[in-house]
Amino acid sequence: MFNIILFGPPGSGKGTQSERLISKYGLKHLSTGDILRSEIASQTPLGLEAKNFMDKGQLVPDEVVIGMISSALENNPDVNGFLFDGFPRTEAQSEALDELLKLKRTEIGVVLALMVSEEELVKRLLNRGLTSGRSDDNNVEVIRARIVEYHKKTSAVADYYRKFNKVVTIPGEGSVDEIFESLCIEIDKRK
Ligand code: AP5
Repeated sequence: MFNIILFGPPGSGKGTQSERLISKYGLKHLSTGDILRSEIASQTPLGLEAKNFMDKGQLVPDEVVIGMISSALENNPDVNGFLFDGFPRTEAQSEALDELLKLKRTEIGVVLALMVSEEELVKRLLNRGLTSGRSDDNNVEVIRARIVEYHKKTSAVADYYRKFNKVVTIPGEGSVDEIFESLCIEIDKRK
């Protein structure tokens, strides 16, 4: 089992590259953002609680997302590996993920960190907001709040995995194909 964290700020290309990586490597894609949006669409109590945070560009509480990932791991016992996209986003989530994977006798193989300038992130997200229907994409204040949350809470995830020598930084600007190729080179070195 080979497990990957695709890491990076909002708009850095995690979702775009995840689609390609799961298809090439046969991994199970776990995106906490996608799971939360599907809970919102189904108007579940969890979705309604999460929406309050997401609409402001704030992180959803750790216990909510850790519970979601724990269920997703349990519900997918026979996979080649997981591709985590948008999770973990805090040090507490990183520690919880490591514990959950340990119970499955596996671990994170690599953390691939996409680096993109803030100017480019804002440009990409505002552009997507024109058509995505995502309430957190069409307001520059909310986009900036998401980036602030990233610096305040999420960049600590890379520091956490650096202690275990698992982080590789990948330039996230350029064509989608070029970035995909760089990601694959790093995965192939470690698989
Ligand atoms: P989430 O859904 O995870 O969103 P995000 O991290 O803000 O990331 P995005 O999906 O916006 O961007 P991305 O990096 O996937 O880039 P993408 O490929 O889409 O989270 C949303 C919210 O949910 C959070 O704010 C939080 O409230 C909550 N949440 C989720 N997980 C949580 C957790 N673990 N803990 C607590 N709360 C959580 O690309 C973006 C755009 O750029 C697209 O239009 C794409 O076409 C374009 N693009 C991609 N690559 C390129 C390229 N190379 N060149 C030009 N454009 C590109």
